[in-house]
Amino acid sequence: MRSIIAGNWKMYKTTHEAALFVDEFLGLLTDIPAEVEIVLCPPFTALETVSERIRGTRVALGAQNMHWEDRGAFTGEISPPMLADLGVQFVILGHSERRRYFAETDQEINFKVRAALSHSITPIVAVGESLAERDADQTQERVTGQTRGALSGLAADAVSKVVMAYEPLWAIGTGKNCDPECANTVMAQIRASVSGLANVPILYGGSVKPENARAYIAYPDCNGGLVGGASLDPKSFAQLAREMHVKA
Ligand code: PGA
Repeated sequence: MRSIIAGNWKMYKTTHEAALFVDEFLGLLTDIPAEVEIVLCPPFTALETVSERIRGTRVALGAQNMHWEDRGAFTGEISPPMLADLGVQFVILGHSERRRYFAETDQEINFKVRAALSHSITPIVAVGESLAERDADQTQERVTGQTRGALSGLAADAVSKVVMAYEPLWAIGTGKNCDPECANTVMAQIRASVSGLANVPILYGGSVKPENARAYIAYPDCNGGLVGGASLDPKSFAQLAREMHVKA
């Protein structure tokens, strides 16, 4: 099973700052287990800069969102072929900030997942419950519903090409960690919710830091991390990558 550490930079870093990050980070790759996949997801404006700098290294490029159409009159949007052209191999889809602030629906996320797969871009599909849903004991219903919605109509072999990410909303950027055992239970529920997910990497996200990453990856259904805040510093991101390991 693959292990992945993905850095979601969100709306941080100019092209210059992104270049400084990559130049430092590339010097820190020693001791990161060779099998761990490393993905950097800068904002659209820094994709080209990062792409050029990581070319020929083990670091892969991801985007944070995209439209599902190849082209058209969609002001402000970015298409799958535009990303593929820059060497983008991964795209985060359905992040809770996209769902919450930009009203993305499961249906739109499903269109995007299909579009990504048809352009050989690996979707990192994010799901997670709010604090109110957790308190109302609706976590499983919420995450399995989002997973089924995002992957609706896909054959099992297409499903097997995605990466899933479990990110409880109340743990994102808050410093409040989800208990690792509890996170593993939810990740197992995600894995069991759609056929084809048995061998798909499932990442945990939500205030992951070098100090707590090992506790998550130690559990059987966790195959890596999707990291926001702690991915913005090259040393911290390299340290996080070192905490990842590959499971049988
Ligand atoms: P965080 O963000 O690591 O800053 O909590 C995670 C994410 O939103 O992907």
